[in-house]
Amino acid sequence: MSSIWSRKDAHVHLAEMNYQAHANNGFDDVRLVHQSLTTVDIADVNLNTKIGTFDLEVPFFINAMTGGSPKTKIINQNLSRIAKECHLAMAVGSVSIALKHDDSEIRDSFTIVRKENPDGFIFSNIGAHHSLENAKRAVDLLQADALQVHLNIPQEIVMPEGDRAFSSWLHNIETLVQHLDVPVIVKEVGFGMSQETIQQLLDIGVTMIDVAGRGGTNFIQIENERREQEEFSYLYDWGQTTAESLLEAQPFLSQADFIASGGIRNPLDIIKAYSLGAKAVGLSGEILHQCLTQGNDATIATLLNWQEHLKKLMSLTGTKTIQELTKTKKVFSLELENWKKQRN
Ligand code: FNR
Repeated sequence: MSSIWSRKDAHVHLAEMNYQAHANNGFDDVRLVHQSLTTVDIADVNLNTKIGTFDLEVPFFINAMTGGSPKTKIINQNLSRIAKECHLAMAVGSVSIALKHDDSEIRDSFTIVRKENPDGFIFSNIGAHHSLENAKRAVDLLQADALQVHLNIPQEIVMPEGDRAFSSWLHNIETLVQHLDVPVIVKEVGFGMSQETIQQLLDIGVTMIDVAGRGGTNFIQIENERREQEEFSYLYDWGQTTAESLLEAQPFLSQADFIASGGIRNPLDIIKAYSLGAKAVGLSGEILHQCLTQGNDATIATLLNWQEHLKKLMSLTGTKTIQELTKTKKVFSLELENWKKQRN
């Protein structure tokens, strides 16, 4: 059994080994214009956000990471406790391993998340090739409020044991969207999204999209470092940053709810993501890093403090509600402006 779950442990280990405090998520290329006067007092700020039919009390959440081994069960338990204390929604890592192997230890490594937080918003997670039956099992396993379906082609191609056929994914996702009882969130895994991909997803009825951009956890690097021969280091910059991905999403903001994730490191990144039209913000690597290095109590204290920081930053930017952040005046770097110009 340990060979089955060693990949899950390796992902956590390598994500943490490669963690960088400063992520190249593209938000350095977005500057919010300082205003010396504000009409908004900190006490008047409201942090609620709505994504689909979900009302989130806090505008950031713990995005998909792990589960599937005894070690990752403990991580999921810790993350779930953090989510509960900080009122955060939380996604688990891909539950494929629990669908494939009828093993109570593997199942428990995911269900612990629901056990710890019976009333929390919890998202299950699978790859885009799974059948409708598997998707239903993935939801049932956690009594999940939504199902994340991940798109991870760069990761698969670098993995020696990865999938090699992807052409059925879009049609498959359409089936899941049409027949599941819970909402489907289609997400990348840190390579960002393009206008073309977003249009394809909208065409099949997807209404929640997590652009999961480049700049934080890098699954080409993680999978390359798991290989005997590291052949793929030339691909480390593949993909759109989170800021570029949000620019790609601009024409579609009224047609779907966009989640921003990928390299989110601090409250200012969160504010910038909302200023570019996000409806929710997800963090994986940063919360994993805090949890592994500081422990639960310090992580909880930090993430509660972030909520206070967000209120302060909203007062600073003159915004009472998260939705109003799109009105914040912004200036893009030449590089980001160039991306925008060439892609319009
Ligand atoms: C992930 N991520 C991920 N995503 C997914 O949809 N299914 C999964 O099973 C996993 N597994 C996973 C393991 C670990 C250890 C990490 C750190 C991440 C990807 C994650 O949800 C996110 O899209 C990327 O990590 C980019 O965000 P960050 O980490 O830069 O905030």
